[in-house]
Amino acid sequence: MSSLVAFLALPAVALASLTVADPSDVISPSDWAADNAIVPDYNTPFISVQPSDILAAYYFENGTTTVGHNSFSVDANDTSVILVADGADLSLKYVDIVKYGYSSNLLQASFYGFNAAINVANASTAQISNSNITVHNGAANVYSYGTDTVVHVDNSWLYSSGPVSHGLYASGNGTIIGRNIQHYSGGHRSSSFSGDSPKGDVFVYDSVAHSSGIGSATYYALGTIYAENVLSQSDNGPVVFMDGDQNATLINCDATAGLLGGVAIFSSSVRMSGATLTLKNSKITALGSTMPGLWFGNTIIDVTLDSSELITSSGVLVVANYSQITQDFDYYASYADNSALQPAEVFVTVKSSNLTGDLVAYNSSYISWSLQDYSAWTGKAYAGFGDASFDVALDRHSTWTLTDTTTVQNLTDTDSTLSNIYSNGHTLYYNASAVLSQWLNGSTVALSGGGSAVPL
Ligand SMILES: *[C@@H]1O[C@H](CO)[C@@H](O)[C@H](O)[C@H]1NC(C)=O
Ligand SMILES: *[C@@H]1O[C@H](CO)[C@@H](O)[C@H](O)[C@H]1NC(C)=O
Ligand SMILES: *[C@@H]1O[C@H](CO)[C@@H](O)[C@H](O)[C@H]1NC(C)=O
Ligand SMILES: *[C@@H]1O[C@H](CO)[C@@H](O)[C@H](O)[C@H]1NC(C)=O
Ligand SMILES: *[C@@H]1O[C@H](CO)[C@@H](O)[C@H](O)[C@H]1NC(C)=O
Ligand SMILES: *[C@@H]1O[C@H](CO)[C@@H](O)[C@H](O)[C@H]1NC(C)=O
Ligand SMILES: *[C@@H]1O[C@H](CO)[C@@H](O)[C@H](O)[C@H]1NC(C)=O
Ligand SMILES: *[C@@H]1O[C@H](CO)[C@@H](O)[C@H](O)[C@H]1NC(C)=O
Ligand SMILES: *[C@@H]1O[C@H](CO)[C@@H](O)[C@H](O)[C@H]1NC(C)=O
Ligand SMILES: *[C@@H]1O[C@H](CO)[C@@H](O)[C@H](O)[C@H]1NC(C)=O
Ligand SMILES: *[C@@H]1O[C@H](CO)[C@@H](O)[C@H](O)[C@H]1NC(C)=O
Ligand SMILES: *[C@@H]1O[C@H](CO)[C@@H](O)[C@H](O)[C@H]1NC(C)=O
Repeated sequence: MSSLVAFLALPAVALASLTVADPSDVISPSDWAADNAIVPDYNTPFISVQPSDILAAYYFENGTTTVGHNSFSVDANDTSVILVADGADLSLKYVDIVKYGYSSNLLQASFYGFNAAINVANASTAQISNSNITVHNGAANVYSYGTDTVVHVDNSWLYSSGPVSHGLYASGNGTIIGRNIQHYSGGHRSSSFSGDSPKGDVFVYDSVAHSSGIGSATYYALGTIYAENVLSQSDNGPVVFMDGDQNATLINCDATAGLLGGVAIFSSSVRMSGATLTLKNSKITALGSTMPGLWFGNTIIDVTLDSSELITSSGVLVVANYSQITQDFDYYASYADNSALQPAEVFVTVKSSNLTGDLVAYNSSYISWSLQDYSAWTGKAYAGFGDASFDVALDRHSTWTLTDTTTVQNLTDTDSTLSNIYSNGHTLYYNASAVLSQWLNGSTVALSGGGSAVPL
């Protein structure tokens, strides 16, 4: 049950499934149910700079050190197993790390790496390979903090129970790069691969990741997320959480989400612009019956879907909303939570992709939907609440099959006869006054399937 399952669609009707193991097959999350039930309390004192007196069982603060075939552990609250700092360089090979001990201050754990099994700080570097990092009670596996801190983690096994136990975690401009990682986290707010405020850059390749807790995504973007060849599942989170104007790029990834949306991208205070999301040769599956493939609130974002799939049971591909995600991470927040909320503006370019489902915008939100390079879309666009506006553009090699009456502002099509829009008998209303609809001269154009494009 805990394994990740990848489905291969074979020609004809056969459907085969491959089961891929993740660390929860080795250590059952049910053995650590108490850790995983802990709800993080962020109502703790905040310190504004990383202190130098971070507690650890082993300190590496001088020059270059290589350690192989060894074991390290600690059982103490707010205490790391290993701290690398002051520009030191540490290589760990074939090392087993086991950590117990709680975080009494989750802000210090989040922003400075207190209690992380391995905390690499202050322009230090580390290379961790062929290692097993197992943590309980709520601790990150590997934390990278500070400008010029770079941590590589290869061929390693990361397991955690308890809250705020991200697998690879970077903050304070730190960078972390994972290859051939197997990750599992069972606790709340424990994303597999996570940046944190103000920024951490996370790169991950050829890996398997499974997170189970509420608030736990595969990727939490605060800074750059770049992923290639990653198979992942977030049982109670989206594939990507993003807060603010960050970038997330998924190439050759197959990712499944169980809560909120295939992605849940927002600004947590004032609306930011400049975020980007790129999926290439990738697939996102949103499991819940009401979950959209892509969810956006209180943000302005450019999205590229290239040779990619969005699989939903809700039938909703994209939501743009006057909303955000709160620190509870389990509902779409309203004006009551943040009086600065503004409508989402989502600019999606679809290339070489075949997508089925609807575009839904709430309370003055906006979706621009551009189909290019032999893309196909089957669906409609509508307001979820109040006003909504949609622009649709097609190139001549792309198609749109309407599933209901739809109203758009700008309608552009390099096929000037609109022969690539299949109406199924429905009406496509367009705003003849909208700048990019003026080429239609306010005319009514017959569409195949019996319907027509009609000026508002
Ligand atoms: C990192 O450097 C900063 C600035 O010098 C300092 O405040 C902080 O305590 C250092 N962190 C560690 C873990 O040594
Ligand atoms: C680092 O090296 C200096 C100088 O050799 C030494 O005094 C100090 O104890 C070392 N620190 C650690 C943490 O090993
Ligand atoms: C460690 O934290 C746990 C959970 O908050 C607490 O019950 C325990 O008393 C703490 N241990 C110490 C030595 O402070
Ligand atoms: C990693 O270490 C944990 C704790 O010792 C152990 O239970 C687990 O089996 C190890 N994983 C692998 C793949 O050996
Ligand atoms: C992160 O980068 C910003 C901008 O360069 C800088 O102001 C800040 O001090 C850096 N933070 C750390 C912890 O290195
Ligand atoms: C996102 O990408 C753009 C363009 O490459 C870059 O200018 C920007 O700094 C990136 N933002 C982040 C948060 O990485
Ligand atoms: C849209 O946002 C409102 C709050 O502004 C919220 O109540 C509603 O659940 C959201 N719906 C979706 C699908 O995002
Ligand atoms: C898109 O997918 C649908 C449903 O699987 C299929 O019927 C249709 O032929 C596909 N269109 C293109 C252009 O591949
Ligand atoms: C819709 O947006 C307006 C501000 O333009 C806001 O006052 C109102 O609360 C929003 N409605 C809902 C249901 O969120
Ligand atoms: C049509 O577009 C014009 C020009 O942008 C705008 O002023 C008008 O409100 C739009 N009409 C409708 C019904 O959306
Ligand atoms: C149509 O597209 C133009 C150009 O991108 C944009 O300025 C305008 O706001 C869009 N909507 C309407 C209703 O004109
Ligand atoms: C709109 O009018 C122009 C000028 O009369 C004409 O060239 C063009 O073909 C018309 N467009 C459509 C879609 O009818």
